[in-house]
Amino acid sequence: MIIVTGGAGFIGANFVLDWLALNDEPVLNLDKLTYAGNLENLASIEQDARHVFVHGDIADAPLLAHLFAQHRPRAVVNFAAESHVDRSIKGPEAFVQTNVVGTLHLLEASRAYWSSLEKEEQQAFRFLHVSTDEVYGSLEPGEPAFTEQHPFEPNSPYSASKAASDHLVRAWHHTYGLPVLTTNCSNNYGPYHFPEKLIPLMIINALAGKPLPIYGDGQQIRDWLYVRDHCSAIRQVLERGSVGETYNIGGWNEQTNLDIVGQICGLLDEWRPLPDGRSYRQQIVFVKDRPGHDRRYAIDARKLEHELGWKPAETFASGLRKTVAWYLEHPDWVANVQSGAYRTWMQTQYAETALA
Ligand code: NAD
Ligand code: TYD
Repeated sequence: MIIVTGGAGFIGANFVLDWLALNDEPVLNLDKLTYAGNLENLASIEQDARHVFVHGDIADAPLLAHLFAQHRPRAVVNFAAESHVDRSIKGPEAFVQTNVVGTLHLLEASRAYWSSLEKEEQQAFRFLHVSTDEVYGSLEPGEPAFTEQHPFEPNSPYSASKAASDHLVRAWHHTYGLPVLTTNCSNNYGPYHFPEKLIPLMIINALAGKPLPIYGDGQQIRDWLYVRDHCSAIRQVLERGSVGETYNIGGWNEQTNLDIVGQICGLLDEWRPLPDGRSYRQQIVFVKDRPGHDRRYAIDARKLEHELGWKPAETFASGLRKTVAWYLEHPDWVANVQSGAYRTWMQTQYAETALA
């Protein structure tokens, strides 16, 4: 069996659902259920005996020791993290606690367990750390996309904490021999995406008749990948990646934020036209920029393609259609995540645009 951490969050839940749809190997899912963790994402496997959910923290060393001893995993896939840049700007401490201290404890628990294994099991064991392209910093227009050799130049508390965790994972391999793999992926989008992030926020605000808040000039560029393509890449790296290596994952799909929002509005205009015939684009408002806002991310995923033969299955057009359709088909999921805590965040973050 494998241990997945953070499997009630956006990418982790997609990974667990796909994993169990594709094979019978059980998953132990360890998740703290922060505001971003949502068991509703896993409702379809509630009765599935192959999925064991444990409510807990990756920084809880005694719990980890118990789980490793009891379940004897062949691999750990670490998704658990604080993941939202804006929240990291308002409160960085939780990011250091989970992303750095939590990863440290998970590495230590993995190492203790791995050291106790027979040689053959040791060789087969993997610790796969899921990270982000944001550790590489920001690119100027025209600069080549990030390769795995790009220096780490994190600019936000979030990316700094992820960079620190990547360094720990690397060191646990070089110092202790733990068989690790690291993946650095670009921005994901798709089903179960918590609506504090750009794409789901824009879909939900548009449908609610609320402003669509574009930070700064909206010309910042992100490289978008459909979440299930990210999950397929992780599965490939887990099974066939070279131990100690880092793999970039991306969709070769750079878009400005303003273009993304325009495309979302275009789909909604087609599928949920406004009664007065106006476009959802009318709801776009330009708001104060994010402090230290990275201008451009772009991932060079050639290593993954050449070594492991991975390619994304979705284009941005097909992935965005699936995503917008999913939000239109799941109004109950949307209503349930917009709890009291979510409303408080929206009020704090977007006070000046009176979005709440
Ligand atoms: P998310 O915020 O949606 O989910 C994070 C999950 O981790 C939640 O279920 C949360 O409850 C859980 N969690 C948080 N702290 C925990 C702790 N201390 N112990 C156990 N569980 C804890 O995040 P996501 O977007 O699904 O991202 C998953 C991973 O992928 C993160 O490591 C993130 O850095 C990385 N990543 C995300 C993106 C993206 O675009 N979302 C891109 C590249 C990499
Ligand atoms: P986000 O989804 O928070 O991901 P990240 O910051 O990790 O890339 O934001 C994506 C881009 O969209 C980023 O450039 C910030 C921008 N953005 C807005 O313009 N308005 C918003 O309300 C949000 C949440 C993000």
